[in-house]
Amino acid sequence: MLDFLARRRSASALTLAAPGPSEAELADLLRLAARVPDHGKLAPWRFIVLTGEGKAAYAAGLEAIAAGREDAVKLTAKLGKLKAPPMGVAVVSSPRAGDIPEWEQLLSAGAVCTDLLHAASAMGYGANWITDWYAYDDEAKALLGLTAGEKVAGYVFVGTPSEPPAERVRPEAAALTSVWSPTG
Ligand SMILES: Cc1cc2nc3c(=O)[nH]c(=O)nc-3n(C[C@H](O)[C@H](O)[C@H](O)COP(=O)(O)O)c2cc1C
Repeated sequence: MLDFLARRRSASALTLAAPGPSEAELADLLRLAARVPDHGKLAPWRFIVLTGEGKAAYAAGLEAIAAGREDAVKLTAKLGKLKAPPMGVAVVSSPRAGDIPEWEQLLSAGAVCTDLLHAASAMGYGANWITDWYAYDDEAKALLGLTAGEKVAGYVFVGTPSEPPAERVRPEAAALTSVWSPTG
């Protein structure tokens, strides 16, 4: 586990190709991702799987939305990261009313994305957590089927990388760390 965390890297979504996870592997990925820390056992998130004809139709719908915008060329180009991979999972944050702060429920949705990424990588696939404009755009969110109060925590795209990702510069944890003391 420590070795995995020391070496892990996202693949670029643009390099992801078939094969992606089988139906059984996808079920395992989602079961593992749903085990994240979740204050109050609210499961304040849900999954929307994008695959096959459904994914192609979703991409076509986003292209139609992009075509009507001033920056259509830029928005359409961004869809490459959605179109290339064989499949993706939209992790949707669905905060529940009650005592648990919404902030904690959003953090839990982020943890779902992270664990989905890790589980897909551990299974031998490449994976990439993406948001891009269609995570935030109201028309795109309606196309995805989000209801009021829901947010896209991320699209996690999964497939077989056509090239290994290069190592990325990482922050020096010590430079970001202090030990609290009463004198500051
Ligand atoms: C919430 C969130 C949204 C992200 N959205 C994008 C995105 O839209 N496009 C992109 O290229 N990378 C995005 N990233 C960054 C990649 O997922 C990834 O972290 C980055 O490429 C570094 O790879 P690593 O996982 O090996 O550190 C996002 C990351 C997070 C946490």
